[in-house]
Amino acid sequence: MPFAHITGWGMFVPEPVLTNNDLAKIIDTNDEWIRDHTGIRERHIARETEFPSTLAVEASLKALAMANLAPTELDLIICSTSSPEYIFPATACLIQDQIGATKAGAFDLLAACSGFIFAANMAAQAIRSGSIKNALVIGSETLSRFVDWKDRNTCILFGDGAGAFVLQASEKPGGILSAVMHSDGSGADSLTLLGGGSRHPATELTLHEGKHFVQMDGKAVFRFATRVMGRAVIEALEAVGMTTNDVQWIIPHQANFRIIETAAKYLKMPLDKFVINVEHYGNTSTASIPIATVEAVQKGQLKPGDKVVFVGFGAGLTWGAMVVEWTGPIPTKKQIHPEQYRLFARLRRFVRRAIRYIESLYSRKEV
Ligand code: COA
Repeated sequence: MPFAHITGWGMFVPEPVLTNNDLAKIIDTNDEWIRDHTGIRERHIARETEFPSTLAVEASLKALAMANLAPTELDLIICSTSSPEYIFPATACLIQDQIGATKAGAFDLLAACSGFIFAANMAAQAIRSGSIKNALVIGSETLSRFVDWKDRNTCILFGDGAGAFVLQASEKPGGILSAVMHSDGSGADSLTLLGGGSRHPATELTLHEGKHFVQMDGKAVFRFATRVMGRAVIEALEAVGMTTNDVQWIIPHQANFRIIETAAKYLKMPLDKFVINVEHYGNTSTASIPIATVEAVQKGQLKPGDKVVFVGFGAGLTWGAMVVEWTGPIPTKKQIHPEQYRLFARLRRFVRRAIRYIESLYSRKEV
């Protein structure tokens, strides 16, 4: 049975930064309160011209370059996102087109902030089954579009960004060792975005009622997160006969420093074994785990051979954890420049549009 290795990783955040002091100019809050209650100092906010697919494409091309894998070699793309570009088409299909991954099946996965772990697990299972060899797993968000900038309970928390992993089959043991996924829909109403779906299609009333914004019972979510995080880590470790002593790093979903601190206490692990960057990005939902991973590698924290646990939680309610033996790129002599495939993809799109235009001219003449 092949193993599923993480052979490439990339992240991208929009350039504009919104600090706590900037927020204090538009709502009744202050830097001290936000830092004390969440650990967040600043977050990146997408420009009007940036969307989950555009952020994801940048992160994905970096991950593919790292793995030395051409987009055309991808069999599968899963984009986990809580802020999809449309209800359909899937954001994953927009990414598939923009990077020129012509052979890949692509779909979105919605498990809110646990989405990246769920998506990576699904891709790993597909690799292990032998049905595919190469997958791209993405977490990408522009949640800033869905927060009410007048609601100080929520708008201080979220930031925009994207992260991506390339997963590849290899006979060498290692890579994704185990994963657990859990859901409890009875807690669905503690974190919601109700407007725009088929139960509350967009109307003047839904807009007036603010149904297109994230609504949250912060305390309930806090209690839930601190209850499930540590347990999920232990469960995923036990699945492969490991304990926290075998682990070099925990990379948690970056929602709130205090939640991570509580999980560390539960696990009786020092906080310096946790990769934490919530200070600079806020909660980027599905993107937070891959972004923290990329930074951990860049800082020289996460190294080949290390055992790392990813753990996340979010709306649904959902939560999950994944144990990984970090490997890094599979050695190869080829030098792939994924950027070139983006140019081919643009050219292909241009030609397709031109053909459609010419066809429409002819069909008008026939009428
Ligand atoms: N700035 C200043 N004051 C604020 C504030 C803000 N941004 N937000 C709330 N307050 C005030 C409240 O109005 C309240 O004032 P009061 O006591 O006069 O009524 C006080 O601060 C305490 O508010 P409370 O809601 O009890 O704060 P908290 O300690 O529970 O922290 C959260 C609020 C949202 C930071 C915290 O509950 C949390 O992080 N929950 C988890 C959220 C999360 O992670 N969601 C995403 C999951 S994927």
